[in-house]
Amino acid sequence: MATQGQPRLKYACDLDKSVLVNNFDRRGWIQVSPDEDWNFYWASVQSIRNVFSVENGYRLCDDQVINHFPNHYELTRKDLMVKNIKRYRKDLEREGSPFAEKDELGRHIHLDFFPTTFMLPADYNLFVEEFRKNPSTTWIMKPCGKARGIGIFLINRLSQLKKWSRDSKTNTFTAPSAKDTYVIGKYIDNPLLIGGKKFDLRLYVLVTSFRPLKCYMLKLGFCRFCTVKYNADVTDLDNMFVHLTNVSIQKHGAEYNAVHGGKWTVANLRLFLEGTRGKEVTDKLFDEMNWMTVHSLKAVSNVMANDRHCFECYGYDILIDDNLKPYLIEVNASPSLTSTTSSDRIMKYNLISDLINIVIPPEGTPDVRWNKTPSKEAMGNFDLLYDEELAQSDLLNQDARSKLGMTGPGLRGARDPKLQSKATWK
Ligand SMILES: Nc1ncnc2c1ncn2[C@@H]1O[C@H](COP(=O)(O)OP(=O)(O)O)[C@@H](O)[C@H]1O
Ligand SMILES: [Mg+2]
Repeated sequence: MATQGQPRLKYACDLDKSVLVNNFDRRGWIQVSPDEDWNFYWASVQSIRNVFSVENGYRLCDDQVINHFPNHYELTRKDLMVKNIKRYRKDLEREGSPFAEKDELGRHIHLDFFPTTFMLPADYNLFVEEFRKNPSTTWIMKPCGKARGIGIFLINRLSQLKKWSRDSKTNTFTAPSAKDTYVIGKYIDNPLLIGGKKFDLRLYVLVTSFRPLKCYMLKLGFCRFCTVKYNADVTDLDNMFVHLTNVSIQKHGAEYNAVHGGKWTVANLRLFLEGTRGKEVTDKLFDEMNWMTVHSLKAVSNVMANDRHCFECYGYDILIDDNLKPYLIEVNASPSLTSTTSSDRIMKYNLISDLINIVIPPEGTPDVRWNKTPSKEAMGNFDLLYDEELAQSDLLNQDARSKLGMTGPGLRGARDPKLQSKATWK
């Protein structure tokens, strides 16, 4: 076993998930309560607030690591993610960055990676203005404080929004509490279909530092399929089995298949697309998804409290349209660790195991002074997606990148020749 001779760490864990606990047990770690001295804490997002609260006054030691950044919500709350990315775009425009380049219609070429979105009620007037430009468009309403598809609905008439406003607890478009805020996004009504069904991607991205940015992408992401065939007919807008790919919704469908759980590996998707659409466009799609991930993290890197005790494994939801354009839908701070099938369980168990090997130095004890450079073997199924320090150093030639197993979009490794020479982040 790889962990032989390693120190027996003390761990605390808020979630009763076998893929977590089995990993800790197998390493011979000892469970303690979150109030005791732990080395590794897998905390819920609620606990994070307490751990880092000013009133608590608790200071973490050098040998302690924890699985969330204190203000992870800058990325993982639907409204804040959009706000941060919009601000990031403006900043890059102001700097004249090549990333902010636009086409002849004024659309971003590199940064147009999420559906047009407004906050409600704050942006109601802006939304109405946009709605009236294309009155037949469908929009998707999502509560900011919920997950797993809960509270989501589709609309294609303004009167439906007015009805919602009348029926909702807020009753008016003024002074809502945080839990009553929504985002309304343009509904991607031409999703890529496989076997006639809509799906989205769940990709796992591990961040060990925001400044400088250091992130890893798991090779083993998966597609989550709807159980019924897609149909953009407006009479079917209420049918969530058609429109929402969340497993928590689909598993209640009559057609749900418990053997494969409506899932496909990303590797499978890649093969399928190479076969049906060709290798070049498939490579471009995957390249764009890597870039989109890095940009979304860069968009929050300056507002994140870059605490050296923290790491975070984000669950990215990505939708692909039938022109193979990827859209970032949302980023989850606590991607589900529930297993729906046996291969799901193995994948998630290995995800946690690889993650531990990356965030804990080879000696086996957490150490915030460590330079956070795991060996390629330790990365397991993770690929180094982006390492800002490396990207900025002259080391980053193609050779160094491949030696480091860096398959992501290093700045100078970008496909676009214009970006290759000019792109840099301040
Ligand atoms: N703009 C959109 N266009 C098309 N489908 C969408 C869009 N936004 C969300 N969805 C669908 O709804 C699902 C749930 O939305 P998401 O933003 O991930 O909220 P939740 O936190 O409830 O999972 C997504 O997985 C996707 O299938
Ligand atoms: Mg989601």
